[in-house]
Amino acid sequence: MSETIVRLALDSIRDSRGQWTVEATVELDGGASGRAGAPSGASTSHFEAQAFPDGGVPVALERFRSLVAPRLVGLSAADLGSVDAALHEVDGTPNFSRIGGNTATAVSVATAIASARARREPLWKRLARPGVEGRAFPAIVGNCLNGGRHAIGGPDIQEFIAFADGPTPDASIDAAVAVHRWIGEELHRRLPTVALGRGDEGGWVAPIGNVDALELLARACDAVRDATGVPVYPGLDLAASEFFRDGRYRYREQTLDTDGQIGFVTELVDRYGIRYLEDPIEESDYEGFARVTAEVGPRTLVVGDDLYATSPARVERGIAARATNAVLLKVNQIGTLTDTMATDERTRSAGWSSVVSHRSGEVPEGWLAHVAVGLEARALKCGVLGGERVAKLNELLRLGRATP
Ligand code: PGA
Ligand code: ZN
Repeated sequence: MSETIVRLALDSIRDSRGQWTVEATVELDGGASGRAGAPSGASTSHFEAQAFPDGGVPVALERFRSLVAPRLVGLSAADLGSVDAALHEVDGTPNFSRIGGNTATAVSVATAIASARARREPLWKRLARPGVEGRAFPAIVGNCLNGGRHAIGGPDIQEFIAFADGPTPDASIDAAVAVHRWIGEELHRRLPTVALGRGDEGGWVAPIGNVDALELLARACDAVRDATGVPVYPGLDLAASEFFRDGRYRYREQTLDTDGQIGFVTELVDRYGIRYLEDPIEESDYEGFARVTAEVGPRTLVVGDDLYATSPARVERGIAARATNAVLLKVNQIGTLTDTMATDERTRSAGWSSVVSHRSGEVPEGWLAHVAVGLEARALKCGVLGGERVAKLNELLRLGRATP
């Protein structure tokens, strides 16, 4: 079936924080179409694509109409690489600041969905390298307790995570949900008069300190592992750039220099059996990351998010520095699926792991699960609770249950 793009549209929609973002619709001449929305971050990296041009979503919609749609009509969705290259060409900046990284993301994903539909194949298959069978399912990185920029009144550390590495999506998701529930019950027991809330990514928010929160998480993981036999272990996303100012890591409880931060984090890894450690060091310090990785890399995934911003060039530098052993992939940090797949390729060729990730402001869509399965990612980071998170988990469940 022909896959020529005949019509494209871009519209404004709300994300899970109630802020405006964009969704693209792409129609092909054979009648197939695809639609996808783009998420938005709050604790963004200095090195990521600009989500919207200056002026925000209205300017993004106008530039789409005047620049993007006319250039893309007539291209073939069968060649996603050339569609994504055309997005770069009309933008003409290194960080999509003219058309907006979210426009690029929505168009790139909607094009891939339309192409998959035209071929009557699932999206994961459309994105997969030859030979990938779609049966290697990612572990779940499930945010259970929120802090930092995603929570009001919580710890400084941004995310307390259940890293659930079960044999099936069903088993991993069960375990992540159980850890989330255990923490909620324990917080309620401990703080019976305090009103508990949930943060931007669906984890609990409570007035507790960083180490208390980690202790609670570790006990929850122990309890769920014992009860279910599913390997589920504590993880953290420190999002350390968010509390790094004037050369120091400034927690409410302590201020640390780089040596102090490395000592603090590596001790936590060993004391609490952390198996997933994201952004323990601020985003420009490759060497600091490398020191953490040298220390704990054999025992835990050390994941660069703000450090790499899904950029192949930054990952290249990270590989040379042995900065981490895993890379977080967020499509709208770099702008297109083709760029994301290039970063994944580079990550894989170094023998490192890829983790496909949501953003804190999400759309209630499931396509991210297909990206994780198609790329055979080591893990899918998409939270545990909240409709926009569950949309991805449910899509992964469906893929896990589909007969080959
Ligand atoms: P975000 O952060 O707010 O930029 O989406 C999520 C993360 O740090 O992993
Ligand atoms: Zn992060």
